[in-house]
Amino acid sequence: MCKPLWKKTLVAALVLCFGIQTGLVYSDTRSEPLSDAALAGRASWHRHACQTCHQLYGQGGFLGPDLTNAASRVDSTRLVSLLTVGSGQMPPFEMGLDEIAHLAAFLEEIDRPEIGRGQLRLGDAAEGGGVQAAFDRALDEALAGAEPSARGLAAIRARPCAACHFPFRESPVGAPDLSRVVETLSPDALDLVLAEGRPENGMPPPIPPLSEDERAAIAAFLTTLNERRDELEAMTRRFAEERSVDWGGLPWWEYP
Ligand code: HEC
Ligand code: HEC
Repeated sequence: MCKPLWKKTLVAALVLCFGIQTGLVYSDTRSEPLSDAALAGRASWHRHACQTCHQLYGQGGFLGPDLTNAASRVDSTRLVSLLTVGSGQMPPFEMGLDEIAHLAAFLEEIDRPEIGRGQLRLGDAAEGGGVQAAFDRALDEALAGAEPSARGLAAIRARPCAACHFPFRESPVGAPDLSRVVETLSPDALDLVLAEGRPENGMPPPIPPLSEDERAAIAAFLTTLNERRDELEAMTRRFAEERSVDWGGLPWWEYP
């Protein structure tokens, strides 16, 4: 059993940690960025527990949509209707127009396009996300108008190749990095894989089959991808980093 002095020391240490932590949190010099109307809106947001169903900056419940950028897409008429009549699983609230205006101000002021728009999610289809989107952008910039490689790229994009083949690495299903294939496969062997797949190893035959012309264009694309691999990989990394989120810029003050 612990001796009483031990317990006292432990409790004192915990109290000290709590004190230091509290001091650090409250001495943060970041200024409060919300207007009075928005602060009233935030109070109403908490009073009605909107966050149980909605996220802000990716934090919150998931029954309703993320509202980080709701102000950019929900106009005031729709907001009034949503809050007073409800919609689907969104319940109606008893709210006056004043309170709705405060909530609108709150949503308006937290709407920071550089933070929201799906950036906190992986692979938002509309915006594109992650390494694949960065790779696609790098290819678009590097190969614009470079025939026949651009045609080969279009032929690959018309098929689900990217579901298995990832940029610059082997994927979890064992599909190899396509930027290296011309180093190991002869042109004939490559043409055979593109024509027939390797079903026994998990590479399905393209359906409908790729035409001879498409296979030649894809081979040209894969050659360019190999020759310009370093450049394209650097571009991909750069574009992917541009999309990353500045976590330090997140307004932690949302949940005081
Ligand atoms: C019980 C869960 C729930 C609660 C609580 C809730 N909502 Fe919702 N909300 C939803 C759902 C579900 C939708 C989607 C409704 C639809 O599309 O028909 C939604 C939609 C919305 C939208 C429209 C979003 C868009 O992009 O179209 C806004 C704005 C909104 N809610 C604001 C609020 C606010 C403000 C509160 C708090 C006062 C709140 N909600 C409370 C579930 C909830
Ligand atoms: C269902 C997943 C899947 C899809 C879709 C897919 N592949 Fe593959 N691919 C693989 C796997 C797994 C391998 C490795 C097969 C092996 O080890 O022999 C492979 C191998 C290859 C190879 C040979 C690589 C080498 O070094 O031997 C090429 C070329 C290739 N795929 C191109 C494509 C193209 C082009 C498409 C789109 C038309 C495509 N793949 C679609 C899974 C896939």
